[in-house]
Amino acid sequence: MKELIKKVVEAYGPAGNEAKIREVITEEVSPYVDEIKVDALGNLIAVKRGGEKKIMFAAHMDEIGVMVTHIDKHGFLRFYPVGGLSPLTLIGNRVIFENGTVGVISNEKLEAQKDLTLNKLFIDIGADTKEQALEKVNIGDVAAINREYVDLGKRLISKAMDDRIACVILIEALKKVTKPAYDIYAVFTTQEEVGLRGARVAAYGISPDLGIAIDVTRTGDTPESATMDVSLGKGPTVKIRDSSLLCTPSVRRYMEDVAKANGIEYQLEVLEAGGTDAGAIQLTKGGIPAGVMSVPCRYIHTASEMIDYNDVVNGVKLITAIMETEFTGALSHYITT
Ligand code: CO
Ligand code: ZN
Repeated sequence: MKELIKKVVEAYGPAGNEAKIREVITEEVSPYVDEIKVDALGNLIAVKRGGEKKIMFAAHMDEIGVMVTHIDKHGFLRFYPVGGLSPLTLIGNRVIFENGTVGVISNEKLEAQKDLTLNKLFIDIGADTKEQALEKVNIGDVAAINREYVDLGKRLISKAMDDRIACVILIEALKKVTKPAYDIYAVFTTQEEVGLRGARVAAYGISPDLGIAIDVTRTGDTPESATMDVSLGKGPTVKIRDSSLLCTPSVRRYMEDVAKANGIEYQLEVLEAGGTDAGAIQLTKGGIPAGVMSVPCRYIHTASEMIDYNDVVNGVKLITAIMETEFTGALSHYITT
């Protein structure tokens, strides 16, 4: 599985520019599903038939990036963030455009460190003039973080673990599932990082009976980190809330029951800031029961996101078990007769 992780995390694909990563995933899942389609937002929808109810899984294939807004006469690029980016993590880092052009991010002179904002940063692609820069990039082009995957054994580091590690989990579960209890709609969504956009239209189009997003979540296990009862290596999480949703109680219970029945270690997750595709799914049409499984991840939205391999292995087990276990909980809080 590590080979697949390397291939998937290293692929280029900032929000709105998912063609390359979609190609990689299409190739991986094609042999294991009954049907594959791509919708108008670029979502990759892989369907595996097996039951009466429809379950939708969402793993976003887009990553954060930077969009060129201006090129000055000396060939330096200014940019706008695609997704949540902190200037603190960008200086000295490299970015790569879809055509392979690499640039380094640096900063103007600052009076004080608190003056460090994104508009004090620029990208140097090695051009001396605007004309030279324009031979390689144009206004509106988007670059992703350029950093290779590292295998530390137990722990893995890369850019775009958010959320390619979830794409890998979903791919692996599709390979492993033998008796699907549902019609499985495995959706590799687009534009999550700019507002859960792909998942919103995919959920509307599919109209599933329930939806489960797979994403990364923060941890509380680094020096002086915010208080959070999630750690690397203690299993994937069953989410209770994030900024985009309160997980549907029956779905959360179902996920916990499946984990317990299969002896899969898991953690309960309360994420104070940050949203997931499940938030968009839940608010689709007349409301869709939704939950989330997360992979604990340190240093989210940096060039070096760190996860624990064992959490990925257990994540594949949990998603596979969910695919094979019918949901019998309430599909609504308000049962009418
Ligand atoms: Co993210
Ligand atoms: Zn994410």
